[in-house]
Amino acid sequence: MKTYIVGNWKLNFTVGEASIYLHKILKNLPAYRDVEVVVAPSLLALQPLSLQVDRRKMKLAAQNGFYRDYGAFTGEVSFSQLRGIVDYAIIGHSERRYVFREDDKMIAKKVEAAVRNRITPILCIGETESERAFGETSDVIRDQLMGGLRDVSDDDLDKVIIAYEPVWAISSTKASKLATPDEISEVVKLIKKNLTEIYGAKLADEVPILFGGSVNPSNAGAYLTVPGVNGLLIGGASLILSEFIDIIDTAKRVRS
Ligand code: PGA
Repeated sequence: MKTYIVGNWKLNFTVGEASIYLHKILKNLPAYRDVEVVVAPSLLALQPLSLQVDRRKMKLAAQNGFYRDYGAFTGEVSFSQLRGIVDYAIIGHSERRYVFREDDKMIAKKVEAAVRNRITPILCIGETESERAFGETSDVIRDQLMGGLRDVSDDDLDKVIIAYEPVWAISSTKASKLATPDEISEVVKLIKKNLTEIYGAKLADEVPILFGGSVNPSNAGAYLTVPGVNGLLIGGASLILSEFIDIIDTAKRVRS
């Protein structure tokens, strides 16, 4: 399985800035066959960047998308419109869940629509600080995982990526708010167990599991060596050229 390094640019960069930044990344990045580098610019930048990107080096992801293909849905962009422009889509990010009130039902429809349009969904799941404190982590993980994959058949499971992103570890500046490799390992096991229960061990083993939450060049190596972790979803550090490249190089090093 490849190692995935996914940069989530969130609501940053104008289209012009995004284009310049992409150019710089491409210039500094060798084509690594075993490391799949993906960036998720804002929706507005996706189309022009799709003409600029060198797909041997890097793929594009949408940060969101709508589950209906067309119709009276003012302001939305569908996965059918994104088809051919992006290879991946981040779905169910905690900011979508908590700022925009997306629930598992809506997220499941988005996952299904992405798969139907040949876009690989990166389904984000993760507990909040208080859910962890109340011992609810395993229930939350199970609910979000099974809720999000509700409409994914056995045949389509290999078209899905899971990202474990503990909400309390996202955009953290304090060391105490960083997930430890042991904490991540425990949840990755849980994800595998749940997937195995529903889809069987053979199919479950093929699903890449990424970790995200304040990943930076100094912790990327430790996170990438957690058993069962197949890559990283990176916010803040993906906006800084040297840090993003450093993390990609770490991924390459850890594999060889
Ligand atoms: P962060 O963001 O790396 O800035 O914590 C990760 C994410 O929200 O996907």
